Amino acid sequence: MYYIVMADSNNSFKPRVLSVLAILCLSFYTNLGEARRPFACDPSNKLTKSFKFCRTSVPISERVTDLIGRLTLQEKILLLVNNATALPRLGIESYEWWSEALHGVSNVGPGTKFGGDFPGATSFPQVITTAASFNDSLWELIGQVVSDEARAMYNGGAAGLTYWSPNVNILRDPRWGRGQETPGEDPVLASKYAASYVRGLQGNAAGNKLKVAACCKHYTAYDLDNWNGVDRFHFNAKVGKQDLEETYNVPFKGCVLEGKVASVMCSYNQVNGKPTCADPDILKNTIRGEWGLNGYIVSDCDSVSVLYDNQHYTRTPEEAAADSIKAGLDLDCGQFLAVHTEEAVKRGLVTESNVNNALANTIAVQMRLGMFDGEPSTQPFGNLGYKDVCTPAHQQLALEAAHQGIVLLKNHGGILPLSNTRHKTVAVIGPNSDVNVTMIGNYAGIACGYTTPLQGIGRYSRTIHQQGCADVACNDNEQFEAAEAAAKQADATVLVMGLDQSIEAESRDRTGLLLPGYQQELVFRVARASRGPTVLVLMSGGPVDVSFAKKDPRIGAILWVGYPGQAGGAAIADVLFGTTNPGGKLPMTWYPESYLAKAPMTNMNMRADPARGYPGRTYRFYRGPVVFPFGHGLTFTTFDVKLVEAPARVSLPVSSAVNSTVLSTANALKLDHTNCNSLSLGLHITVKNNGTMDGVHTVLVYSTPPAGKWSAAKKLVGFKKVHVPAGTEQRIMVGLQVCQHVSVVDQFGVRRIPLGQHQLQIGEDLNHSVSFHADLRGPIKS
Ligand SMILES: *[C@@H]1O[C@H](CO)[C@@H](O)[C@H](O)[C@H]1NC(C)=O
Ligand SMILES: *[C@@H]1O[C@H](CO)[C@@H](O)[C@H](O)[C@H]1NC(C)=O
Ligand SMILES: *[C@@H]1O[C@H](CO)[C@@H](O)[C@H](O)[C@H]1NC(C)=O
Ligand SMILES: *[C@@H]1O[C@H](CO)[C@@H](O)[C@H](O)[C@H]1NC(C)=O
Ligand SMILES: *[C@@H]1O[C@H](CO)[C@@H](O)[C@H](O)[C@H]1NC(C)=O
Ligand SMILES: *[C@@H]1O[C@H](CO)[C@@H](O)[C@H](O)[C@H]1NC(C)=O
Repeated sequence: MYYIVMADSNNSFKPRVLSVLAILCLSFYTNLGEARRPFACDPSNKLTKSFKFCRTSVPISERVTDLIGRLTLQEKILLLVNNATALPRLGIESYEWWSEALHGVSNVGPGTKFGGDFPGATSFPQVITTAASFNDSLWELIGQVVSDEARAMYNGGAAGLTYWSPNVNILRDPRWGRGQETPGEDPVLASKYAASYVRGLQGNAAGNKLKVAACCKHYTAYDLDNWNGVDRFHFNAKVGKQDLEETYNVPFKGCVLEGKVASVMCSYNQVNGKPTCADPDILKNTIRGEWGLNGYIVSDCDSVSVLYDNQHYTRTPEEAAADSIKAGLDLDCGQFLAVHTEEAVKRGLVTESNVNNALANTIAVQMRLGMFDGEPSTQPFGNLGYKDVCTPAHQQLALEAAHQGIVLLKNHGGILPLSNTRHKTVAVIGPNSDVNVTMIGNYAGIACGYTTPLQGIGRYSRTIHQQGCADVACNDNEQFEAAEAAAKQADATVLVMGLDQSIEAESRDRTGLLLPGYQQELVFRVARASRGPTVLVLMSGGPVDVSFAKKDPRIGAILWVGYPGQAGGAAIADVLFGTTNPGGKLPMTWYPESYLAKAPMTNMNMRADPARGYPGRTYRFYRGPVVFPFGHGLTFTTFDVKLVEAPARVSLPVSSAVNSTVLSTANALKLDHTNCNSLSLGLHITVKNNGTMDGVHTVLVYSTPPAGKWSAAKKLVGFKKVHVPAGTEQRIMVGLQVCQHVSVVDQFGVRRIPLGQHQLQIGEDLNHSVSFHADLRGPIKS
């Protein structure tokens, strides 16, 4: 998004006290109906009775056609933009399409207003942290809670019903300022996250109804904001067909096909010389044609203007308007289409029927949301109000999410957990040790309240607090002696270091991966001064090169907490003192600083190119040294993982279009030559907790295909998280979809299933091979 509204750090808010006054307000609220007026089809407006589009018994497609049939061209054009016009003659109010709910209802976007009855909303951990939980039921549950709060705010007139979240771009480069918003670097993980969160938000209701409408963005190959003089408004991402199909598009496809998302947003950048918002191949043909989007396509804010004004993609603004509508764009976040579409129609560059198609897609979503069904309070979710926002249960889930997302990176000699009997005094040091809004990252709202790390640790022990540096930039070492003195006096030292939005943010990619300024020196000096064990807690969205701390025996433990949300400080303390056993795993590779010089951010290739010294990207293709690998994460117990049952041989049914001569030489089957859609493999696994503390374990399953013209890199194909009480064993099943997970993508972007031996790797060190055979007789598993 173009316009960044920073969360206002002074806008604090205390949990609501239900005083007599509040109870009075409550009765006014319900009695006087201060809730939102109906958006359309107000039963008290006699005018609307005659409109077919208001009749809930009529199918939505007919209601949409009826409404569009009543509009003039000028009216239609004013509905193509995010601040859609009111149409008083039809009893329709204006509507602001732009609201956000990346990890809680956000105050980014003009559709949402905090204040009055809605001073705050539950602020969950930033997405990169939640992704580290590898828990798809958590992701869906967060979506459910966020959409409860969003509906409540809508009913109270404080928010819209269309949320341009989540951001599911692949975290391709560690410098990306928006990496924090994403579920990480792996396509299978990101796709699963997208589908789960969207299902939670949209309500997953029977029929076509939507609780709120989610939006997967930014389609596609968008993951550079501003690097070395190249910005997202001018960047032309050169992406091969293989990387597009195998990596960049995967989360979007999952979002549409599995999540049934109601919207996709096209990005600012170009892909192979075409702005994504004006490319019919990737919009009309792929999202709508191939994936069958049931919903609308929206531009990133001012994308259409950007493709004309910044990229000079078309000669005239009318051509820019016409090209994007014809490519499949339905809604402009911005004013460009409102200003230029009428003239474009007059010049014959785009037809009124193209405009009708766009409106049919947006209006159908509004109808599925119930916006044309009259009185909101009588509809599903109509009972939700301010009492349903920031509830204790919602805030508890924010705490649980932070617990589940925290990753224990190092625990030398088992110095963690600390004990509140042995570590009575803890020195709490560092620029992020007493922060609040830093913990919620970007695209946040106003939280219900905060527990800072200092406050959280203070619940377990006496604390001595020293900032060490004025802020994360840490431009001087003036406070270092005071920090060392604190560490000398305490039984244990916790340094809370890392980044914030001044270092990594929208429009701000990082230039390095090391801790900023003098932070490293502070950690080094404090660790040497500490009387007791030293723990380093890193708050950041992207990875940080902390090789120095990994090697340093004086720094006993390292935790990565991402941006852990409103309850972050409580969660950090619970892990430090062992009331929570950490189980998060890194959703991205932690590269060393030296990686950056070899990987220009503008190089979109996933695969390494050794001849040119290009190292490749993510654990799937990068083979160089890492600080911590994808999937890394320790716990306070030990797990013993065993494979108890898995198929060894799978027969793929072959379509009759393929004859036996071809088959006898084939080393892979194209997906459309084998009916693998319903074919899945089940891996039955036992996980034994061999320690003394209850814990959770995430089983990651990777697969390595046989060698061929594709790359035989190991890739994640499935994961499952399981809670295992100490001393017990749990049996789980990890299911793999053959089409989706066993296939590889060739250089032409074609998916195939390689025949022969595939190596499955379960966890760190369990291997199992499965062989795939083409079979003209149909599927046989043994
Ligand atoms: C957040 O921290 C700042 C700086 O300590 C403080 O001024 C502000 O009141 C805090 N906000 C909330 C909501 O606690
Ligand atoms: C939408 O916003 C633009 C820019 O602020 C304004 O010029 C226009 O009048 C607004 N349209 C409506 C329908 O409110
Ligand atoms: C499980 O615990 C036993 C006893 O503590 C130990 O001998 C064994 O090596 C452990 N197994 C694993 C896989 O850690
Ligand atoms: C098998 O298919 C190939 C490729 O389509 C074709 O060239 C060949 O003639 C076919 N052979 C038979 C026996 O049908
Ligand atoms: C996943 O998250 C949900 C919601 O917090 C929780 O109830 C469940 O126990 C988690 N699963 C595991 C295996 O930890
Ligand atoms: C499992 O397979 C992987 C990939 O083929 C290999 O690198 C690893 O050494 C194997 N591990 C064991 C324990 O056999």
